[in-house]
Amino acid sequence: MNLESLVLYDKIHQCVTLSGVAAKKGRHTTIKDLGVIENAAVVVDSDTARILWIGKSLELPQQFKEIVNQYSCEGEVWLPELVECHTHLVFAGDRSHDFAMRSSGKTYTQIAAEGGGILTTLSQTRQASVQELLERAQIDIDRFQKLGVGTIEIKSGYGLSLESEIKILKCIQTLQQIVSVQLVPTFMPAHAIPPEFKERSDDYVKLICEEWIPEITKLQLASYFDVFIEDGYFSVPQAEKLCLTAKDKGLSIKIHADQFKSLGGTSLAVKLEAQSVDHLDHINREDIKALSNSPTVAVLCPGASLFTGTPYAPARELIDGGARVALTTDFNPGTCPSRNLPLMTTLACTQMKMTVAESIAGITYNAAAALGMENEIGSLEIGKLFRVCQIKGSSYESLPYMFGELE
Ligand code: NIG
Ligand code: FE
Repeated sequence: MNLESLVLYDKIHQCVTLSGVAAKKGRHTTIKDLGVIENAAVVVDSDTARILWIGKSLELPQQFKEIVNQYSCEGEVWLPELVECHTHLVFAGDRSHDFAMRSSGKTYTQIAAEGGGILTTLSQTRQASVQELLERAQIDIDRFQKLGVGTIEIKSGYGLSLESEIKILKCIQTLQQIVSVQLVPTFMPAHAIPPEFKERSDDYVKLICEEWIPEITKLQLASYFDVFIEDGYFSVPQAEKLCLTAKDKGLSIKIHADQFKSLGGTSLAVKLEAQSVDHLDHINREDIKALSNSPTVAVLCPGASLFTGTPYAPARELIDGGARVALTTDFNPGTCPSRNLPLMTTLACTQMKMTVAESIAGITYNAAAALGMENEIGSLEIGKLFRVCQIKGSSYESLPYMFGELE
């Protein structure tokens, strides 16, 4: 073994490995599953950027004691880099007026039906130059990164014409050249019905299936496909048609379901073996059961519930049933303009009665699973990528406790 390519991080005050969470594939997480090592050491192979050994400093194998590149990490608390598995990060403008209208009693759906909501952001995003979109997105990515995030999923969906959806997906591609965070692009043309297709949503679905999905996959601009199932947006049969076409072209599936109403989106996600089904604030009992036994990850968005003043997803029932539960900001201008993923753990613990351990698994291992990346990131184990974040405070319990103030 070439000792020169190895790096030893020693005397780490506390290292949260999530080894037990990974062993149980993110279900029924307990404190023990966090695999916390006090006074830890990590050996990294800098050629592959992978973890070669991890354990207690006192148990460091003899052969690693001679490593030249050694760092002493006294007082530090380490976790796997955080994973943000659901954002709508490329957009222009803001929606402060929607918020003001909600504060005077209008609902999200009423505002959308009157032409506000997603369509407001749509026209601003269509008009914006690539440079404007990039500058703003970079600021948002930097903010996520400052708060410990190393991977961000980004959806298109504020263009809703082939040209402007390509503009957004190409922005994500360009951003990946500029930022050090890993980006995961998702094509979401079925985010709303664009004005050109008002009252003709079936025609819009047909166009997406016949022309847009083939074009986006040919250009290799996305890994995932997402659809918003809701009254006034897309129905379950429309979503099924879209997702089957996308799957057939090699995209993996994500679905926005049960955000304001239970319409059967979760059953569809389970049936299609979607990677994740997101929101679930109004999921019904039957769908909780279906999801609990499936590999599809339940991605919950407590920031969107807080910001729109709507109910929180039934996290306890989902977790107790055995579901894999991840947490996200759902960062977007309409329902959650927050880039603070650690804050979501605070909300999860206080508003959805999740435990600290479950909330930490929700922004690491289970969020990685929502992106199909749990074999590479999301826990700190031998063979996995060495991607860590250091948090302020004396222990991992500081993460939800700090109320988002982790810088
Ligand atoms: O995930 N639900 C649909 N999409 C976003 C909201 C987008 C918007 O309002 O601009 C969400 O909450
Ligand atoms: Fe969303």
